[in-house]
Amino acid sequence: MPYQHQRMRRLRQNPILRDMVADHVLRPEDFILPVFVRSGEDIRHPILSMPGHFQYSPDVLLEELSEWAAMGLRGVLLFGVVDAAEKDAVGSHAHDPDNAVCTTLRMVKRAGLKLLLITDLCYCEYTDHGHCGPLIRPTRGRRKGGRSPKVSADAGFEGVDNDATIELLAQQAVVHCEAGADVVAPSGMMDHAVRSIRSGLDGAEFTDRAIMGYSVKYASAYYGPFRDAAQSPPQFGDRRGYQMDFRRVSDEALREAELDIAEGADMVMVKPGMPYLDVLARVSTAVPVPCAVYQVSGEYAMFKAASQAGWIDEKAAVMESMHAFKRAGANLIISYYSVDVLNWINRS
Ligand code: PBG
Ligand code: ZN
Repeated sequence: MPYQHQRMRRLRQNPILRDMVADHVLRPEDFILPVFVRSGEDIRHPILSMPGHFQYSPDVLLEELSEWAAMGLRGVLLFGVVDAAEKDAVGSHAHDPDNAVCTTLRMVKRAGLKLLLITDLCYCEYTDHGHCGPLIRPTRGRRKGGRSPKVSADAGFEGVDNDATIELLAQQAVVHCEAGADVVAPSGMMDHAVRSIRSGLDGAEFTDRAIMGYSVKYASAYYGPFRDAAQSPPQFGDRRGYQMDFRRVSDEALREAELDIAEGADMVMVKPGMPYLDVLARVSTAVPVPCAVYQVSGEYAMFKAASQAGWIDEKAAVMESMHAFKRAGANLIISYYSVDVLNWINRS
């Protein structure tokens, strides 16, 4: 067809036609809300760097969850917040069936809420050093395999003990499933975590529970507000020894996703979201399983700050970001804006 007959604006002029030819439509089922829960009662503690988000005690969270479920929320991702007194070098409190996460899981199941319960599986919220698993023993005479070191000091920080951590993760997964988790999501970027968790769950007859791998997770400055929210900043060092380096090509992301799938991940995730749309597009195209994206705390904080200053239209900008995720191939979107998006979808 000669170029002079081609007018791209024809499909844009009529709003009905625009809706008709829209390729991506957001559904309530696309969204998962991360929530922070801490032990106690009647607690609703604001998270300053994430306006509109709170640390809740299980009783208050249950009320909120039933309200959000009535508004169409289908899934949540639970994070435990732990006071310093409960923390130790190996994160023992993560395995306590009476911790805030497990208590919430049981309460939600008992209340019969129709919500998919996903739990974050990690140790950084539970260790006194704030790393995602027990540390490698810094002393010279470390035994082969270096198991369960009880070290909290920063002297000679050598990183997280991968193989000790993945054994613990399998136990934590079982504790969560016993309390009612439908899906577990290991976020620590430990090698072979998925394999260890899958065999732990299967051994405990939780063959029906799914694993969502935080397969492609970069060491990112965009996690800043989360570390306030979850009281989990590393006390020394950083997470670059286990999380991915954003200077590398996205082939590394494909390998991470493929390995997790080979080890039994039912779903994979790319994290953060907007700064990594290129990675999301590649991974979601390549994998044969559903692919989630995590719009992280720093992304949320930027939208909030700019809109509170009156510099950006919050709803328009956030909805644009959600469509960008769909366009890049995300099947699921984990976002602190999930409840707002549901309201915006319902009202349009
Ligand atoms: C813990 C964890 C983090 C996030 C999710 N799980 C923090 C981190 O890795 O430092 C970040 C989520 C967010 O920023 O919203 N492993
Ligand atoms: Zn962690």
